[in-house]
Amino acid sequence: MKALILAGGFATRLRPLSCSRPKTLFPIVNKPLLQWIFERLAQGGVDEAILAVNALTQFYIRQHKLSKCGLKVRFSIDPPKMPLGTGGPLKKAEKLIGHNEPFIMLNGDIYADINYRELVEAHRKSGALATLALCTVEDPCSFGVADLQGNVIKRFVEKPPKGKAPSNLINAGAYILSPEVFAYIPEGRAVSIEREVFPKLAEEGKLCGHCINGLWIDIGKPQEYLEANKIVLDSISNSIKRQNPASFSLKNPVALDEGVIVGEKSVIGPYAILGKNVKVGANAQISNSVIFAEAQIADGAILNGAIVGEGAKIGRGVKLLKGCVVGDLAKVKDSVHLHEGAVICPAKEVTETF
Ligand code: GTP
Repeated sequence: MKALILAGGFATRLRPLSCSRPKTLFPIVNKPLLQWIFERLAQGGVDEAILAVNALTQFYIRQHKLSKCGLKVRFSIDPPKMPLGTGGPLKKAEKLIGHNEPFIMLNGDIYADINYRELVEAHRKSGALATLALCTVEDPCSFGVADLQGNVIKRFVEKPPKGKAPSNLINAGAYILSPEVFAYIPEGRAVSIEREVFPKLAEEGKLCGHCINGLWIDIGKPQEYLEANKIVLDSISNSIKRQNPASFSLKNPVALDEGVIVGEKSVIGPYAILGKNVKVGANAQISNSVIFAEAQIADGAILNGAIVGEGAKIGRGVKLLKGCVVGDLAKVKDSVHLHEGAVICPAKEVTETF
């Protein structure tokens, strides 16, 4: 079975961290999201993954040298300066996907525990042209909400006002599609599969839904990205519970990648995720934060609810609180206190508190 992974968007809401990596390569508990996706697809019986990307995303993905988990991996590249949206890349990949059998399509920016075998089975049984994985959320008001009759999706109601949502089920960004769907997508231009293709299928009664129960997280915005890391860390924390070392204190759950060094009397955790070769000085405190690889946190720094980009340098006594995002290679000088939600561009030097 083949799977098309959409990964050629610009991830504008995740700037500045997405200036230097596509969303699908953001680490989730120190493993690129795309690696989690490959693992799950391989478990689900997929043998070929086609990555729908732009040229720059292809470059970053190749550079990362992910384990392919036994999958054959191919690229389908949007034309230069012409992003194809969420439907155009599907039409572009038509020849690579072929017309032999149903296939999976999924957004490369979701972390989801999807049982693909079950989803495929639901698709075969329903006889629909598209079967969408549906996920239950507490408050569906900021999503497209499915109006279901049995397993048939009648329509999606976009961002309904409170109390007016037809269900709590939203599009989880993973689909099983039959090759007949290609006929519904215009060629050579950007197409939104959600707005242009699914409504047509729904009108014709050819759109079905299948509820998924496992973890489902979209990493669209920095706070969601941070939350995704915490939820996944929670879900795997038993397997990575670490002993308290003598010189500093660990408050589980934490994840420390290889090469991490922590100075005396520092307190790491709860919910501290430190990437490869991160160096933390003495008397520092890091909680509810994700620190990308090669970053350095100096003595006495306090980080709570922050994201620190790759190779960034956080000075002595610096305070980074909830929602602070420090871009790759940025430097925050000693004693600077950043207010909640402060965002620092990549490679910028911050010398004053603001
Ligand atoms: P924002 O700019 O923050 O909205 O993010 P985005 O456009 O990258 O992501 P969005 O959630 O809108 O898109 C869902 C999925 O489709 C993501 O995995 C994107 O990478 C992918 N995607 C979005 N636009 C394109 C595109 O023009 N071409 C390709 N190949 N993939 C796309």
